[in-house]
This record gives sequence, structure tokens and C-alpha cells, in this order.
Amino acid sequence: MATNTPDVRSQFTALRMKAPPVYLDCAATAQTPDAVIDAMDEYYRTYCANVHRGMHGLTERATLAYEEARKTVASFVGAMYTSEIIFTKNCTEAINLVARTWAEEHLQKGDTVVLSLLEHHSNIVPWQQLATRKGVHVEWIPVDKEGKIQTGEIDAILQRATVKLVCVTGLSNVTGSRPDIASMTKKAHDAGALILVDAAQLAVHHKVDVQEIDCDFLTFSGHKLYGPTGIGVLYAKRDLLRNMPPFLGGGMMIQDVTMEGFTPAESPARFEAGTPPIAQAIGLKAAIEWLSGYSWEEMEAHEQTLMTACMRVLQRMDGVSVIGPHSATERSGCISFTVDGVHPHDLTDLLGQEGIALRAGHHCAQPLHKHLGVPATSRVSFGIYNTEEEIDLLEKGMKKALDILKI
Ligand SMILES: Cc1ncc(COP(=O)(O)O)c(C=O)c1O
Repeated sequence: MATNTPDVRSQFTALRMKAPPVYLDCAATAQTPDAVIDAMDEYYRTYCANVHRGMHGLTERATLAYEEARKTVASFVGAMYTSEIIFTKNCTEAINLVARTWAEEHLQKGDTVVLSLLEHHSNIVPWQQLATRKGVHVEWIPVDKEGKIQTGEIDAILQRATVKLVCVTGLSNVTGSRPDIASMTKKAHDAGALILVDAAQLAVHHKVDVQEIDCDFLTFSGHKLYGPTGIGVLYAKRDLLRNMPPFLGGGMMIQDVTMEGFTPAESPARFEAGTPPIAQAIGLKAAIEWLSGYSWEEMEAHEQTLMTACMRVLQRMDGVSVIGPHSATERSGCISFTVDGVHPHDLTDLLGQEGIALRAGHHCAQPLHKHLGVPATSRVSFGIYNTEEEIDLLEKGMKKALDILKI
């Protein structure tokens, strides 16, 4: 299947509507293809039951589907073992899981967690909370004027501090830039630290292979990957999971419970207390299978076409400043920008009234915005279904909105 064809759009109910939205807010949540909705619908209509409990046909089928979803995700990220995949509520919860289990156990007062200035609050606040609880330091890797991470700076931090963990995004949800994760992983490992990659944006736009990257933890959400909300993924190396205490306590995460205490189950059950996101895991499997109908090469090429067209439109508009790398080839997924004298919320609101969906604000990356000297930006973000015609509509919409706002 080729991208950028009516065929892609025809697979989304939302995009088949008479007046479909010009949906340029995929970095927040992507639209959901019918295949995903159908898979979840089938579960609820025909084999709705809990998993890993009970001894009847429905629960057996549901359990099989849930565990098949885990296998699909493991293969999607190139994990060596299926048990290295933990289902969570979202990417945020997956990062919190690492902070509350591995980091809680392995970090001592005075140790350092390194973050990049590109991080989303999901990959900042859990570490700040850890710092408060345990007396751990948080150090920041700076970014340059184009919002590109200064990987060289990591060496200085690794030399002067007892770094136990480096946490970095694989793709910024503001600048669209992609840090060199492989080189950062090597640096972290050479210094005896582990690395956590926040792949919330990366996993949608580029192939991820955890064995090739050699990262220790990797996290992402289903809803940005054309899957449902309510599911996220934590990948962690098997040896790490073996020595991590449970996250939440409750049903199914135990091997044995007595009045005196409990023995935790092995991974992944140990980290999935209570009824897991069953329908969502089934939906995520359908999303990954749906996405695998397209090659990464064609998706990346399609996205580059959109990125180049949109950068050109924005760069020729008066007063528009694009945040992040100036070259389209150095970025993926999104473009954030400001317009002189115009509040991003006003512009984005007017575009919304025209059926053109962007996002405005700090995009949960306040430290980065502060560093770049802008309180807020408007953000265009693309998915597999977006077209060059939509970029033309954005240009027209922006001209109209700016005419109103600049009067
Ligand atoms: C880079 C990045 N990390 C983490 C998250 C958090 O994802 P979620 O809200 O699905 O947990 C987001 C969401 O926008 C993101 O863009």
C-alpha cells in the first residue's frame, strides 16, 4: 500500500466524513483506523472476559488475544523476550513505573539522573519527585538555539557526577528533532549508567529496535500510534525486570499471599496489578498490524514531503518563527512556531473554528519553552493520513486568521 492516497484516509471513519477535520494534531493523539475500532468491538461483542482468571472459553480467548498483543508489541520494538513488555495506562505511567521501582531501589542520595531540555513533563516530573523522595540530583543536558540537544555536554556531566540514569526523548514533541540515541546510550553505558528512551513520538515516525539501540528502558503510548487511549508500553531488559520490585499492589501481580505478606509474580505479571487494559491491548495489536501494511521508508518519505511543504509555507509567512531545526530533513513529526504579536492560543483557536486542528501551549515542555524564550507555541503535527492539500488549507486558514488578529 502506498501512503498519501485516498486509500489510507478511507480506512478512518473520521476522515471519511463529509467535512473531515484537517487534523494536524497527531502528536497529541492520532486518529484511529477502523481496523483498531473493529478489533476492540469484536472483543467487547463476542469474547468479553477477564484475562488470566477463570476457566471458560471466553477468558481463554481473551487471554490469548491479550498475550498475542504482547508478542506483537515485542516484535514491533525488537525485544528479545515477550516478557520484557509491560502494559501500562500510557507512556507517562510507564516512566513513573521505572521511577517508582528500579530507580527507587537502585538510586541513593547524591546519585544523578540526567535529563535533556527537550523532555516532556512525563519524563521530568517523575524524576523531580524521585529527587524529592531520595535526595537524588537532576542534571540537564542543554539544547542549542535550534533546540538541538548538545550531546557533547553529556560527557561533562557523566564525568563530574555519579550518573545512574540518562532519560531522553527519542523525538521531541516540540522541535521534532531526534537526539542521537545510540551515541547517548553508549556514553551512558560507558559511564556505568542506564538509559531510558521516551519513544512516545519516535515510535510513530521511525522504526524502533531496542536491541540495536541497546537502551535499558523504552516507553510509548498506544494513542499516538493509531491505537486506543488507555494503553502504554514499557520495554525493559529482562535482567533489570527480574530485580525490580512491583509497582502497584493487587490482584495478579503475586505468586502467593499470606496474612504476613506476599511473594511477587515474575514479569510481566509483577508489574500489571489488577485487570489490565485488555480491549486496549487488542486495539494496540490491531494498530501495529495495520501500520505494518506500510513500510517505514514510504511513511518517512511521505512525512518528509509534508514537513518540507509545511516548513516552506511557514518560513515564507511574515513574522513566523519556527522553533527547532531549520532544515526539514533534521526533524520529524511536528513543527512548532510563533507569530510576532499574535498569541498562539488566539491563532490556534481561529484555525480550530475553520476545522483546522493544531495545538497551542507549552506542549507539556515548559522548561524547553522557557529556555527558548517563548511561553507558548502553535504546533502542527502530521500522521500517515495527512496530505499536501491539507497544508494548503493550513496556509489559507492562517492567512485568514492572521488578517483578523493583526487588525
Ligand atoms: C515526547 C512525549 N513523551 C511523553 C508523552 C506522554 O504521553 P501520554 O500522555 O500518552 O502518557 C508525550 C505526549 O504528548 C510526548 O509527546
